[in-house]
Amino acid sequence: QRLKAMARPLLSWYEGHARSLPWRDDPTPYRVWISEIMLQQTRVEAVKPYFERFMAALPTVQALAAVEDDRLMKLWEGLGYYTRARNLKKAALMITERHGGELPGSYEALLALPGIGSYTAGAIASIAFGLPVPAVDGNVLRVISRVLADREDIRQPAVKARMERELKEIMPRERTSQYNQGLIEVGAIVCVPGGEPRCAECPMESICLTRRQGLWKEIPVRGAL
Ligand code: ADE
Repeated sequence: QRLKAMARPLLSWYEGHARSLPWRDDPTPYRVWISEIMLQQTRVEAVKPYFERFMAALPTVQALAAVEDDRLMKLWEGLGYYTRARNLKKAALMITERHGGELPGSYEALLALPGIGSYTAGAIASIAFGLPVPAVDGNVLRVISRVLADREDIRQPAVKARMERELKEIMPRERTSQYNQGLIEVGAIVCVPGGEPRCAECPMESICLTRRQGLWKEIPVRGAL
């Protein structure tokens, strides 16, 4: 169906348009995990220097599990949402105890760690382990609802759950990292929120129903929380 037709144009577009980012150039499970947690509530440009400093200070799960709380908070200072940092350390301790010090390579085991929800579990599974699991964040919700001209409220958890299910069915089994990061990238730099989307630059322009119907002001629908 329509979603399945995204893969080919999306993957070739991503090949030419992926920004070079520190966690993309060397996507170890640990680096992908830390970057995705930082990126949950903070913009890419702001994350970059924090990510590099964090990796220099705490280069392994073992270092993170053993860090003093005040040192951790200093490394996080400025990023906000400090629960994220506390969950990172908790998860690092669990990874040491239960997984022999290595990030587990399954979606379910990742999801069981503190601070890791369906988006982050999917991102680590697909980017670091190459598993065909979607990573649906706000960007991806917007892109998919626009491609389908879907008027369901993207703030409803059930809508996200349905999208995760549908994407899992149709996403390619290979190049899962490029596929998921391609969707994120289209959402971040082409199919932008809060302004006119750059449809002329979008790899999905010809299959997008919102484009065809001129509905970008109305879709996605964001209801009250
Ligand atoms: N935002 C969240 N995850 C990202 C990623 N892997 N690349 C760029 N922006 C992101």
